[in-house]
Amino acid sequence: MQTYTYVSQGKFELTEKPKPVLMHERDAIVKVTLASICSSDLHIKHGSVPRAVPGITVGHEMVGIVEEVGSAVSTVKPGDRVTVNVETFCGECFFCKKGYVNNCTDKNGGWALGCRIDGGQAEYVRVPFADRGLNKIPDSVTDRQALFVGDVLATGFWATRISEITGDDTVLIIGAGPTGICTLLCVMLKNPKRIIICEKDEIRIKFINENYPDVLTVLPSECLNFVQANSEHGGADVVLEVAGADSTFRLAWECARPNAIVTVVALYDKTQALPLPDMYGKNLTFKIGGVDGCDCEETLKLIAQGKINTEPLITHTYPLSKIDEAYDLFENKKDGVIKVAVDCQK
Ligand SMILES: NC(=O)c1ccc[n+]([C@@H]2O[C@H](COP(=O)([O-])OP(=O)(O)OC[C@H]3O[C@@H](n4cnc5c(N)ncnc54)[C@H](O)[C@@H]3O)[C@@H](O)[C@H]2O)c1
Ligand SMILES: [Zn+2]
Ligand SMILES: [Zn+2]
Repeated sequence: MQTYTYVSQGKFELTEKPKPVLMHERDAIVKVTLASICSSDLHIKHGSVPRAVPGITVGHEMVGIVEEVGSAVSTVKPGDRVTVNVETFCGECFFCKKGYVNNCTDKNGGWALGCRIDGGQAEYVRVPFADRGLNKIPDSVTDRQALFVGDVLATGFWATRISEITGDDTVLIIGAGPTGICTLLCVMLKNPKRIIICEKDEIRIKFINENYPDVLTVLPSECLNFVQANSEHGGADVVLEVAGADSTFRLAWECARPNAIVTVVALYDKTQALPLPDMYGKNLTFKIGGVDGCDCEETLKLIAQGKINTEPLITHTYPLSKIDEAYDLFENKKDGVIKVAVDCQK
C-alpha cells in the first residue's frame, strides 16, 4: 500500500509498505478514507520532534472505516466509520483515569501515531487501544465534517474546556490557524460576551471576518490597545495563545486582565521567558500543555447537532498520490490554505 514516510530530516516521500496487521488484541486496522496534514507533521519534517522515528508513516489526523479488530475490541466493529484519535491511551493508568490521556503511561501512550509508530497518511493504519482511540461517526455526519475531531478540533475543545469561560467574559484568541479557528468554534459554544482574534495574516483575518462576523479581529501591533479598549477590566478575562510566534507568549499575558486565565496551546521553537517581576501582582493563572484528546464522542455529537462546523476549514483536497503537492501548499501557506483533505484511497 502507499504510505507517506518520514525518510530523513527534511524529506517525506510516498513509499510502498505492506498493509498493517493486528499486533495486539486491542488493535484495529482502519482503512483511511480521508487524512489531513497538521503543523506537527511539518515539525517532524524539519527535525524538531526528536521522538519521531525515521521510517515511520506520518499523519495523525484521519477518518476511515474499520477493517479488522482484535479480540478485545468491542466498541467498534468492521464496517464502522470512525474518527481516529491523535493520542493513544490505555484508559486504565493513573493519568487516563483522571482524563489526562496525554500523559498515559503506556509505552505507546500519548502522541505515537505518525510519530513513533506508523500513522495515517496511508491507505491503512493500525490503531492501538482501538476501544479508546476510535469513535463511531454518526450517520448524519460526513467524513469531511469529522476529519478534525481527533486532533485540531480535540485541541480547540480541550483548550476551551480548561479555560473556564463564562458568559461575561472577553476572550482573546491569538492566532487564527487551523487550531486557533477550532478553538474559536469551541469558545463560541460558551457564548462569552466578546471574542477577539489577533492574527497577523490578512487572508486569515478575512476568513474570520467572512465566516464569523460577530468576532472582532485585530493585528498584533494593535492588539494590546484594542483589547484594553474592548474589555471592562483592563484586559481580556481569558486569553488563549494559539500562535506560537516569538512575541505571542508575552502578548498573551500582557493582554490579560489581573486574575485572568492564560491558556497556552502553542508549542514554541524556543524557550519563553516568564518575567515574574513584570507580571507581579497580576495574579495570573497559566494553563499549558498538550491536548487531552478524550472528548471525541462529545464533539461528534456537537457536529451532528450542527453546533460545530469545521468543514469550511478544508480549503483544498488532494489524492494521496499527490500528497507532495498538498504538503507544498500547506507548508508554504499558498492559495489561502487553511487545511487540506487527502483522499487516501486515490
Ligand atoms: N497543545 C497542543 O496539544 C497542540 C495541538 C495542536 C497544535 N498546537 C500548536 O498550536 C499552534 C497553532 O497551530 P496551527 O496548526 O493553527 O498552526 P499555524 O502555524 O497554522 O497557526 C498559527 C497562526 O498564528 C499566526 N501568527 C503568527 N504570528 C503571529 C502574531 N505575532 N500574532 C498573531 N498571530 C500570529 C499565523 O499567521 C497563523 O495563522 C502551534 O504552535 C501548534 O504547534 C498545540
Ligand atoms: Zn496534529
Ligand atoms: Zn493510560
